[in-house]
Amino acid sequence: MPNRPDVMDKLVSLCKRRGFIFQSSEIYGGTGSVWDYGPLGIELKRNLQERWWKEMVRSRDNVEGLDSAILMHPRVWEASGHVSGFVDPMVDCRNCKKRFRADDPKIKGTPGTPDGQCPACGMKGTLGEPRQFNLMFKTFMGPVEDSAAIIYLRPETAQGTYVNFLNVQQSTRQKIPFGIAQIGKAFRNEITPGNFIFRTREFEQMEMQFFVEPGTDMEWFEYWKSERMRWHRGLGLAEDRLQFHQHSESELAHYARAAFDVQFDFGGSLGFQEIEGIHNRGDFDLSQHQKFSGKKLEYFDQGTNKRFIPFVVETAVGPNRTLLALLVNGYREEAVEGEDEGRVVLGLSPALAPIKAGVFPLVKKDGMPEMARKIADSLRPHFPVFYDDSGAIGRRYRRQDEIGTPFCITVDGESAGGNSVTVRDRDTLKQDRVSVDSLREYVAQRISE
Ligand code: GAP
Repeated sequence: MPNRPDVMDKLVSLCKRRGFIFQSSEIYGGTGSVWDYGPLGIELKRNLQERWWKEMVRSRDNVEGLDSAILMHPRVWEASGHVSGFVDPMVDCRNCKKRFRADDPKIKGTPGTPDGQCPACGMKGTLGEPRQFNLMFKTFMGPVEDSAAIIYLRPETAQGTYVNFLNVQQSTRQKIPFGIAQIGKAFRNEITPGNFIFRTREFEQMEMQFFVEPGTDMEWFEYWKSERMRWHRGLGLAEDRLQFHQHSESELAHYARAAFDVQFDFGGSLGFQEIEGIHNRGDFDLSQHQKFSGKKLEYFDQGTNKRFIPFVVETAVGPNRTLLALLVNGYREEAVEGEDEGRVVLGLSPALAPIKAGVFPLVKKDGMPEMARKIADSLRPHFPVFYDDSGAIGRRYRRQDEIGTPFCITVDGESAGGNSVTVRDRDTLKQDRVSVDSLREYVAQRISE
């Protein structure tokens, strides 16, 4: 299949202009690969996170929620293998001082030898030998900056779940198999961040650890693989832009027995990339924490009178990366019949769109603005709406199309007499006349689909 077009630059500009995503500390020239979410971005991200929480926690009686702290005991990261194993090989260029992952496909020749060529400055022989670089951010706990006080910003939420495994199991009296889910920040000092919000140094994760009896793990692994792919399709991501990628032996993380990524086709040179990882982590993490903490982390099965360390099947998805997938998937430019100017549309599913309806008076007279404001005020407690009376009506439609608003409600000359408005559908451009009394139900029903 030919490469899909690269829409990243257009999205970066749209996201800034319309208030989805801004560069962090922009007025100081920006912070490397950290982004802030503006008024529309936070609505979209929240919608995505709430949808995940509802799917993974609220609608299942065998998955519990958790919100563990970012800062954890430093021994956690020794036990988890992150201090020794969460490393990427990196090379530095002596000439231009740029840093690359040693396996960067843009590097020609072999780093550390005279034929190794820097992909940035083009010099040969200036790339050093690959060195292991730990991706965890280090900081200090308390006022003394000595090594005893070193702690890490967590690079995954999962460890907060493992150390709370028995707290959650005993307080909820869950029986295996059951899961623990959480949404939270994670930090990685990535060597080559980039592609907008695709790979950043501060990001969020929505992770679920499912604890199962050893021997049943591959069955659950298959179950969660299919559940998670179903979820991504339900977001409206195009079927042919989604695929599984199985990790080969060399790709497996230090904790994984088996792993599949859900990949999305971001188009351009980025192509298919991971948006979620599904891992069979076996008993690696719980066994390690039992060993390092000296505390038993076994599960007691009352039915069989057996004690064992459960195996874990993990589903780990990034809301930031999935949000980027939604933007890429939804972005389109199209001609409009009878108009010179085309339109840009963000084809987000109505359930995820940050604003559900634009509300406009057709013209600024004859009581239309007052009626439109009243309608907007009555809908606002139920879903986000945006009142707009500035500029030509076509322009107002375009402004909503570009941010993915699925419906535009217009008060026109017939509205006052018949207590009705037109509702324009973003995708079909079809306009329905709807009574003001049933407007809330009409929109609510369409955004729940
Ligand atoms: N606990 C397992 C784990 O962390 P992962 O595959 O490294 O697995 C899971 O990360 C998800 O987190 C990824 O699929 C991606 O969506 C997101 N993610 C990881 N690193 C990221 C980064 N630097 N920037 C943005 N999202 C990231």
